[in-house]
Amino acid sequence: MSKFYLTTPLYYVNAAPHIGHSYTNIAADVLARYKRKSGFEVLFLTGTDEHGQKVERSAIEAELSPLEFANKTVGKFKDLWQKLSISNDDFIRTTELRHTKAVQKALVILYKKGDIYEAKYEGWYCTPCETFWPQTQGPEQICPDCKRKLEEISETNFFFKLSKYQDWLTDYFKAHPDFVLPGFRYNEALSFITQQKLEDLCISRPKARMGWGIEVPFSKEHVTYVWFDALINYISAVGFENDQNKFKKFWPADVHFIGKDILRQHAIYWPIMLRALDLEPPYKIAAHGWWLIGKSQEKMSKSKGNVIDPAEMAEKFGVDAYRYFLLRDVPFGLDGTFSESSIIKRYNSDLANDLGNLVYRTLTMVEKYYSGAVPKALNLAPNSIIRNKIAVLSEEVEKFLQRFEFSASLEAIWGLINLANKHVEETKPWNLAKENKAEELKDFIALLVEVIKKVAEELSCFMPETAGKIEKQFAKDKIIKGQPLFPRIDVTK
Ligand code: MSP
Repeated sequence: MSKFYLTTPLYYVNAAPHIGHSYTNIAADVLARYKRKSGFEVLFLTGTDEHGQKVERSAIEAELSPLEFANKTVGKFKDLWQKLSISNDDFIRTTELRHTKAVQKALVILYKKGDIYEAKYEGWYCTPCETFWPQTQGPEQICPDCKRKLEEISETNFFFKLSKYQDWLTDYFKAHPDFVLPGFRYNEALSFITQQKLEDLCISRPKARMGWGIEVPFSKEHVTYVWFDALINYISAVGFENDQNKFKKFWPADVHFIGKDILRQHAIYWPIMLRALDLEPPYKIAAHGWWLIGKSQEKMSKSKGNVIDPAEMAEKFGVDAYRYFLLRDVPFGLDGTFSESSIIKRYNSDLANDLGNLVYRTLTMVEKYYSGAVPKALNLAPNSIIRNKIAVLSEEVEKFLQRFEFSASLEAIWGLINLANKHVEETKPWNLAKENKAEELKDFIALLVEVIKKVAEELSCFMPETAGKIEKQFAKDKIIKGQPLFPRIDVTK
């Protein structure tokens, strides 16, 4: 059986999960379910990033030790994943022994090899991003990434020779045009390595300044820089340090799902770290865009008070409607604007009007005309447009999912739903019934049932609960008619 190993970023535990985090995990979950359904042995990994200054500072504010503080937020992430039907096979915390040992193993290998060296750093540092910005790159002492004020520091640290591998990485990119998807993110990463010389990466922090991290095995005075630590999780979870068989089986990862904000770390630092360790890079990196809030497209932030809780959205609209909205509304890779009114719009049109209506009207007709017994198709006049669409739908969905085009795969599924609804309106089955066209009616209803079953099958990775409900309603010869799947939301209320 072929394996498929996919990962999400490890989320910082300094704040509660928000819709952005849930987006990555929902996308990854759809692919994980899809690959399982296609017969792969799937390993779907998510987890939490628990070291570093951000977490340390939040813990101090909460008057807890960093680990106590982390323990509290980890629970929130785990609960959320359960609530959102995320089917991860493993959950890794960077404070676990399997991980800290793997990080130390990697550090020792690179240090012995001479790819990590000690040097003095004098320059600018962004505390929230935990990033060094050598003077040349920090105009006006403002962080180029987050735009907050930089601090000036001077200290001895350990550095990783990124620069040594720059040419190798450039060649690797050129030989693997699908390494990063979508394509415009590939170009962004490639231009980062072709347009400037890479600076070596500072991979330690002096304990005197920041003590919450994995101790550097060859220096008692330093802990590991949180990004070097966190990236290693992708190999520590599959046994880099403690299970060679598992490691051989699952590495390289098939895809790392990330947000566009952490492209540089994943597309540049990480492949180089792996190369230096004599390991293969991941096959693919899939980078999505950001969810912004409101008409002015603001970033979510605690200080603006506009952080949206995914659990609350799932509560309000249903888990599947929430999953559907995120993946359907915006093509993967682009930014999107999140608002409850846009969820309601999608809900009422795509879910209530299109899908819900098709299922409900079909159940109603089976009940009315056949006392609930699903009629068998006679194929008097096979509807070739619908039948063709049924025949090619799986392939279409597959093609889009291969390139992480979630929105396009949902559109393809809706293509079939819409054809079927149009067919109902054009055929007017109530007239067939009135005119005693019994055989045509049978054929017609049987085709609708076939459509619905196909739709449920294709939707099962996106909307597992809904697909399950539909499958149950049509599982036997006799239908089970329940409540409408997606009752319309009345906006006036
Ligand atoms: N801990 C690092 C990642 C280490 S991976 C080895 C980190 N954590 S984070 O908590 O800040 O989460 C970053 C990820 O959350 C993004 O890459 C993205 O997947 C998701 N999102 C955070 N905010 C987001 C939006 N507003 N919109 C969409 N997703 C975003 O960075």
